[in-house]
Amino acid sequence: MYLKKLDVHGLRNLRHIQLSLSPSANLFYGPNGSGKTSLLEALYLLGRGRSFRTRTLSPVINQGEENCTVFGLLEKEGNDIPLGVSRSRQGDFLFKVNGQPVTNSSGLAEAMPLLVLNSDSFHLLDGGPQFRRQFIDWGVFHVEHNYRDTWQRFRRALKQRNSLLRRDRMDDTLMGVWDAEFVCLAEQINHYREQYLADLIPRITEVLAELSPLEGFEFKHYAGWDNTKKLSDVLLADRQRDFQGNTTYHGPHRADLRVRFNKQPASDILSRGQIKILVTAMQVAQGFLYRERTGCQCLYLLDDLPSELDLEHRLKVGKLLYRLGAQVFITGVVRGDLRSSWPDEEENVRMFHVEHGQITQE
Ligand SMILES: Nc1ncnc2c1ncn2[C@@H]1O[C@H](COP(=O)(O)OP(=O)(O)OP(=O)(O)O)[C@@H](O)[C@H]1O
Ligand SMILES: [Mg+2]
Repeated sequence: MYLKKLDVHGLRNLRHIQLSLSPSANLFYGPNGSGKTSLLEALYLLGRGRSFRTRTLSPVINQGEENCTVFGLLEKEGNDIPLGVSRSRQGDFLFKVNGQPVTNSSGLAEAMPLLVLNSDSFHLLDGGPQFRRQFIDWGVFHVEHNYRDTWQRFRRALKQRNSLLRRDRMDDTLMGVWDAEFVCLAEQINHYREQYLADLIPRITEVLAELSPLEGFEFKHYAGWDNTKKLSDVLLADRQRDFQGNTTYHGPHRADLRVRFNKQPASDILSRGQIKILVTAMQVAQGFLYRERTGCQCLYLLDDLPSELDLEHRLKVGKLLYRLGAQVFITGVVRGDLRSSWPDEEENVRMFHVEHGQITQE
C-alpha cells in the first residue's frame, strides 16, 4: 500500500501543492521554515484527521484561508482508494474514504496506517507512560479488530467508576457492579496488549541489534497493576484510597512499557542519538510486525531524520526501511545528508526541494 498522489490546499505555508509520489522513498529538503514539517503534517491530517503539532486546527490553516484540504490517492492491492480530509477554522470537518464520509478519524487510520518519527518521538522514552501506551495501542488497534470497541467500553466503565468515586459517600453495592464490568474489560485489554508485545519485543530486539552495537536492553510490560494478584482484589484493597483521591489508581489506563538499559531506566543513560536509534527501532519493528500480520504496509513520516544521527546510523535506518519496503516521507535541511540516508542502489527515490511553501520535484 502506498500513496500515489497528494494534493494539499491552505495548510500552513503550503497553499497549493500537487505531488506525484514514489512508492518507496520521498525525500524533502529545504531551509528552516520552508514547509517540510508542514508537508508531513498534511500527510498526518490525511491519516489521522488532526495535527501532530497542535490540538486545535486553526493554527494549521493558512492565515489567508478558512479551510485546509488534503486529498490523497492510495494504491492498495491493485485498487485506487481516494482519501480526503477538509477542516475549517470553525471546527467543521469532512473525512472521506473511497467516496464515503467517515464519522471519525479511526476510519482514516484504518485506511492509511501511519507511523511517525519526529521530535515528539523522544517522549516514547523520556515522557510519561501515556506515550508508551499510545505506542502499544497503535499496534494492537491495527492487528486486533475488537480492540477499539473493547477500549471504548473500558473508557466508559472507568468514567463511571471515577464519577462514583467523586460522590460524597461510597456506594459499595453500585461500585461492586461497576468493578465487575471494569475488571472484565481491563483483563481483555491487558490480554490483547500482552499478546501483541510477546511478538513485538523480540522484533524490537532484532532491529536494535542491526542498528546499534549496544547490548543490554530490556523491555517489560507493566499491566497497570500488580498482575500476580487478581485485579478485583486490587480494586477492593484500593477502594478507600481511590475514594480519597477521586480516581482509579490501578488498571490498564496506568499501563507502561518499561525500557531499561543495563538494569537502569534507558532514558537516564542514553545519549540523544542513542535514544533516537532506540525509538526508531521500536517504530520500525512495529512496521515489520504490521506487515507480517496484515500483509500490508504502513507509511512512515520521518521528520528531520538526519538530525542527531551520524552517517552510519542514518544509513542503517535507511537500509532497514528499504528492506521493510514501506513508503517513507523523510525530511531534512541538507540535501546531501538526506540522500546519504538512503541506499545508493535504490532507484525509486524521489527528491523534492521545498522553498517558501513551494515543493518542486527534482
Ligand atoms: N497558519 C499559517 N499560515 C501561514 N504560514 C504559516 C502558518 N503556520 C506556520 N506558518 C509558516 O509556515 C512555515 C512552515 O514551517 P515548517 O515547520 O513546515 O518548516 P520546516 O521546513 O519544517 O522548517 P525547519 O527546518 O525549521 O523544521 C513557517 O515559515 C511558518 O512560519
Ligand atoms: Mg521542520
